[in-house]
Amino acid sequence: MKYTLSFRIWHWLFAVVILGLLGTVFLRKTFLSYKANAEILMAKLSDMGNDITIEDAKILAKTIRDNMWEWHIILGYALAALVIYRIILFFVDKSKRESFSSLSLHKKAVRSLYYVLYATVLFMSISGLTIYFYEYLGLAKETAKQIKEIHEAAYNIILVFVILHIVGVFIADAKDENGLVSTMINGKTKDNFK
Ligand code: HEM
Ligand code: HEM
Repeated sequence: MKYTLSFRIWHWLFAVVILGLLGTVFLRKTFLSYKANAEILMAKLSDMGNDITIEDAKILAKTIRDNMWEWHIILGYALAALVIYRIILFFVDKSKRESFSSLSLHKKAVRSLYYVLYATVLFMSISGLTIYFYEYLGLAKETAKQIKEIHEAAYNIILVFVILHIVGVFIADAKDENGLVSTMINGKTKDNFK
């Protein structure tokens, strides 16, 4: 057994939650962008004979966006729980893992990318919860804003990782690591495939 059941369950829950979080960011920046929707609302309402100011249109657009954005927070809590789940796995999991020094250069690069991802996810969870609870934590709004800027910048690392990771495992599985994706589904070492 290469990956234990608990590790595989963790991986797929983690994948779904991260993709969900990226989905909420995508919607916030595209279809639910308050600036674009404020323009649309203002123009449509004007056609209907109701002139509203751009400020009011932005309030309406943000209200619609906020219903979706709640999912960023819900999935954010799920992510924080999965970070704790992964830390527990680090101490108790029996999945088979080669030592870093025994890996080929390519595998060392892949493993290093996972370390970068883990560090970034840890940062995203802590910074996300900090922005959300900044008042309870006694932080100034300005400080919360600055943390948000870094939270937003670090999002790019997650985005790049997810693209590289998915493309990478597909290429590896198709070329010289046949069955790699299956190992994350059935847990078996490739030699045990029947
Ligand atoms: C949806 C398509 C995905 C597939 C087919 C997939 C498949 C895999 C496979 C086969 C591995 C083991 C690769 C290896 O031995 O290096 C792996 C590891 C990993 N995947 Fe994915 N993955 C997917 C999505 C994701 C997403 C969205 C994330 C979230 C960021 C993610 C995070 C990870 C991490 C952190 C590891 C390393 C686990 C460790 O060894 O500590 N995966 N994935
Ligand atoms: C991989 C995980 C995450 C990613 C990729 C991510 C991404 C982002 C991005 C890009 C923004 C800026 C949105 C914008 O202003 O256009 C943002 C804001 C925010 N995120 Fe996250 N985030 C993650 C995890 C979390 C977590 C765990 C929480 C905590 C519950 C959280 C809470 C927040 C909050 C409160 C904001 C500020 C929203 C606002 O200004 O109204 N995020 N996130």
